[in-house]
Parts: sequence; C-alpha cells; structure tokens
Amino acid sequence: MPIDPPAPDDLDAEALPGIAASLIAEQLRRDELTPMRPYRDAQALRAELPLALDGEPLPWPRTLELLREVLAATPSTTSRRFFNQLFGGRDLVATLAELTTVLSNSPMHTFKASGVQVLIEREVLRRMAGLAGLTDGDGAITPGGSLSNLMGMLIARNEAIEGTREAGLPGTPRRIYTSAVSHYSVRKAAGILGLGRGAVQRIAVDEAGRMRPEALAEAIERDRADGVIPVMVNATAGTTVLGAFDPLPALAEVAERHGVWLHVDAAYGGSVLLSSRHRHLLEGSERADSLTWDAHKLLGVPLTCSALLTRRPGLCAAHLDEPAGYLFQEDAFYDPGRGSLQCARRNDALKLWLSWKHRGDAGLGRRIDRLFELAAHARARIEAEPRLRLVRDPASVNLCFEVAGVGARRLCRELWERGIAKIGHAEVDGREVVRWVLVDPAVAPDDVDAVLRELLELAATLAS
Ligand SMILES: Cc1ncc(COP(=O)(O)O)c(C=O)c1O
Repeated sequence: MPIDPPAPDDLDAEALPGIAASLIAEQLRRDELTPMRPYRDAQALRAELPLALDGEPLPWPRTLELLREVLAATPSTTSRRFFNQLFGGRDLVATLAELTTVLSNSPMHTFKASGVQVLIEREVLRRMAGLAGLTDGDGAITPGGSLSNLMGMLIARNEAIEGTREAGLPGTPRRIYTSAVSHYSVRKAAGILGLGRGAVQRIAVDEAGRMRPEALAEAIERDRADGVIPVMVNATAGTTVLGAFDPLPALAEVAERHGVWLHVDAAYGGSVLLSSRHRHLLEGSERADSLTWDAHKLLGVPLTCSALLTRRPGLCAAHLDEPAGYLFQEDAFYDPGRGSLQCARRNDALKLWLSWKHRGDAGLGRRIDRLFELAAHARARIEAEPRLRLVRDPASVNLCFEVAGVGARRLCRELWERGIAKIGHAEVDGREVVRWVLVDPAVAPDDVDAVLRELLELAATLAS
C-alpha cells in the first residue's frame, strides 16, 4: 500500500521557529496591553470559539488562527493584575528553559532516555534538600504540591503500618494530624491511600493560624490510649489562606516524642528557605521526615515544579520501585522512575535549575525579600485606610482583609468581571475576606496602590 505524504498545508519544521516566536511575542505584549482579558462567561466562550471536536479536519492556517484566538481568550495568570493564586508573574529564564523541555521531550524515568536532564533534576533535588536541612535524604520531582503531599503520606503510611504496600491496610484505626487550616490535598490523599478521609484529625490553630503543639500532643496521646495508630503529623509552612507557618520545632518535638512521621507541607512557604531574612520561618525543617516544596509558587517557575524531599536516603524507591527490567537498568539515582509515582513524565526540573544557575541563591533570595517588602507596603496602605480592616497580621505575603459595606465574594467577582484585577476571597473565622497574595515581584508598589484605589472606588459604588 502506498503511504500518503504529509498534508501539504501542515505545519513544517522550518516554519515552527518563526511561528513560535510570534506567538511568544504576542503573548508577552498581550500581558502588557490587556493584563485583564475581557470577561466572558463559559456560554459566551462556547458561542465565540469553535471548541467542538466535530471530527472535521481544519486547514493549518485556520488551526493556527484558532490557537491564537484561544490564547487571546485565556485568562492571564502572568500579568500584574493577577493576585488570585499562590503563583503569578513570569520568570523569563525559566520560561525559556520550559520551552526547551518541550523540545527535548525527555521522559525522565531513565538515564538512558534522558541523560543529562536526570543529572540536572538530581542536582535540583540535592540543593532543595540541603536548604531544608535534609542533606543526605532522597527526593522526587512531582506534578505539584498535592502529589508531593500524597507521596509523603504514602511513605508515612507504609512506614507506620508495616506490610501495607503488599497487603493493603489492616483494620486498625489510624490517624493523620493536620491543622484545621491546612491544604485540602491532605484529606484527599488520605482518601486515595485507603486511610480514609475520616482518619484526618484537624488540630486547633492559634490566633495567627498556626497549629497548636499542645493540642497535637493531646490528640496523639488520646489516640494511643484508644489503640489508634498515629500515621503522620502534617505541619504546614505557609498556609493557603493566611500564609501562616506552623511552629516546626515544637511540632517536631511532639512527633519525635511519640515516634510519629513528620511531614512538612511547605508547598507554598518552602522557597522562603532561600532568603536569609525570612528563612527562620522554616526553622526545624531539618527535623522533618518528608517535606513538600513547590517552586512554581513563590519562585515563579512556570507550572508545574514541585519536589517531595525525605530525610532518609533511598526512601522514594523503597516505597515505589517496581521490577520493570525492560525499562529500569540503572540504580534508582540514575533511573528516577523507580522512585516516582509516574512512569514517563515531563522534566519539571530544568526550568528551576536554569533560573537558579542564572540568579544564584542570592538572586532567588532577593525575589522572596521583595515579595515580603511588597506585602509590607500593601499592609501599611490597608492599615492607613479606614474602610479596610486586616483580619490578621500578615505572616508572610498574604493579606486578608474586609472592606466596609461590601462582601468580599461580591467585590472580588465584580473586580474580575469589570476587568480590574483578579483577587481571591476566602473565609476566616466564618467571615468573607479578600485574600490578596503578592507573589509576583514584577508588581510595583504603584500597582499595589492603584489596585487598592480601584478596589475602594468599586466598593463605594457597590455599597451605595
Ligand atoms: C499549603 C499548600 N499545600 C499544597 C498545595 C497544593 O499545591 P499544588 O497546587 O501544586 O498541587 C497548595 C496549593 O495552594 C497549598 O497552598
């Protein structure tokens, strides 16, 4: 049978660089000119764009045009009006590295298929572990903090309840301890791991949103007396809403005294380790058995880039390795697939590595310091404005406040729909608050002032 030639109007390799360059240039310009894309609800988007996969082939020029239309309609998470998630802005060096990651398409499970990229990933993990004080341990890059937490919990479960990797969970009740304001991925992982979401005990927090060590100790003692197996304490370094840091030394003391695994969810706050001014917030991280750290949050590395680090060496492969002789022909250091939740996976380490190489520890530390300075500036502005009320002293770069006369949910929705800014809202003490996160160092104090001014103008019109 004759083999068909490629379609004549298909994208060819010679055209790819030029088209990619123009798409990149358009996207960067768009963030400058229209930081907030025009508001469209889901119905309007469906009506405006031919999204259906109707089975009909689209000629290449129209396909490219459609990609442009989709990009133009996609919300910007990289502009100076995006404050809605725990990431923002654009690290250009890391973005460039990310583009080369797509080009090399390394599967990262074996040295044979990924070569130097495996060594780069190992170096990134070594430096992250060193900063966290887990110098001789192990680690794996994962697709996000939720999966890093899942992996940490999986290892903790296997260590706490012998034989579960092979035989599944026995019937004895077990417990995961985490603060009342910790991330939902802990409960989700408990469900996935067969521990049950009900095994998660929410421990009380103090006024600042930090887990109370004495409440943790009481809960563990009660459980031990009742024959419940304590599996893991999850401490949070950088809580999602308030940005609070649990007191790691005191929690480590409780966990060590009771022989319970200590996992630190530093998905958000881990990058503070690079700042000599603020790294004290993570004091005690070296006593963690495992630790989650997302570089795609405070370090601004493009999504996704997360690591699970362990204090003891060899733990990742010890709990995840499978005999696959067709694939794994090196030890677990050179074949990272043996210590990963995934088989083939994209390389998320290169972009962090290149940004780190270029900026050094001091450059990344300055980024963190600048974010704290921006947050201090915003805090001063909020405190000086009688119509705004901070509900907590900011522990890091999250500012949670109420606005006189209008609920946070309504205000944030209007800010979005009117194309002013994307800012999140949350609940603190059962009250709606604006939750403004300052995670993009390209945001200037003037931007902060302008957003607050526009927010107050809008609040005045909504309240009247
Ligand atoms: C404290 C904390 N842990 C874990 C996560 C989950 O991270 P990811 O979105 O990378 O899965 C988040 C996300 O906001 C978080 O705030």
